[in-house]
Amino acid sequence: MPRTPAIRDNGRVNEADQDTTDTLEPSPSRGNRLYPRVTSFRSRRGALTEPQQETWDRRWAHLGRDVGDELLDIDGWFGRHAPTVLEIGSGTGTAAVAMAQAEPHVNLIAVEVYRPGLAQTLQRIERTLDTDAPVTNLRILRGDAVDVLEHMIAPESLTGVRVFFPDPWPKARHHKRRLLQARTFALIANRLKPGGVLHVATDHAEYAEAIEVTGNAEPLLTPLNWSSPISHERPVTKFEDKAHQVGSTIAELIWGKIGA
Ligand SMILES: C[S@@+](CC[C@H](N)C(=O)[O-])C[C@H]1O[C@@H](n2cnc3c(N)ncnc32)[C@H](O)[C@@H]1O
Repeated sequence: MPRTPAIRDNGRVNEADQDTTDTLEPSPSRGNRLYPRVTSFRSRRGALTEPQQETWDRRWAHLGRDVGDELLDIDGWFGRHAPTVLEIGSGTGTAAVAMAQAEPHVNLIAVEVYRPGLAQTLQRIERTLDTDAPVTNLRILRGDAVDVLEHMIAPESLTGVRVFFPDPWPKARHHKRRLLQARTFALIANRLKPGGVLHVATDHAEYAEAIEVTGNAEPLLTPLNWSSPISHERPVTKFEDKAHQVGSTIAELIWGKIGA
């Protein structure tokens, strides 16, 4: 099983450092850690609607998995060998489903902690199944994407990683909760194949600056200067829509993994 000890340890903080304003509820990705990591998400309880639950019951066993400690057999799960892209924090699946449809030759794995969002993603997939462009190349993982990268993805196995509108955690005292910090860039860079791409979009100007500086400092990444192996076309999600409404600029940051 792949391990990146320095990264793993960097991710840990003492309980005392936890933000006590958040309720920590049991999560499939928290496992038996002695010291829970400061996570980039706020635990939200969310009941599924009846139709969502029905879709979940029909589709989860085939299309979804809880995050765990085992390396993913990606080819086995998709039933084929193809370039693999991981989307972190896929929300309700707007981008994941549209991009899976646009790139049928890619295996797309969407990771999200919010169960109603995952249920909506399953519903979106289900709605395509009777159309001319059924989505058969999207799988979903429920849990913390950092755990996914650490435990479930082998080094140099991803063609792309997408992070669209990561929670900005704007208060300085919450910056430690931001997903895109040096250790996450190092982890993502390690899991990308040489030539693979990290695509980030954010509407938060200050976070965008921090992301750019941190990404540029990661030695295995460089601003993309070759033809991308994955599409950069994104549909507009509700987060982007809101950002446009208040006049925010969307920053698109794209790096490639060196060594191709
Ligand atoms: C601001 S929303 C953006 C959702 C989606 N990308 C979009 O553009 O509509 C950020 C999402 O990331 C998820 N998230 C945050 N940290 C995460 C993590 N470590 N692992 C998985 N999902 C995470 C949150 O639950 C939330 O749904």
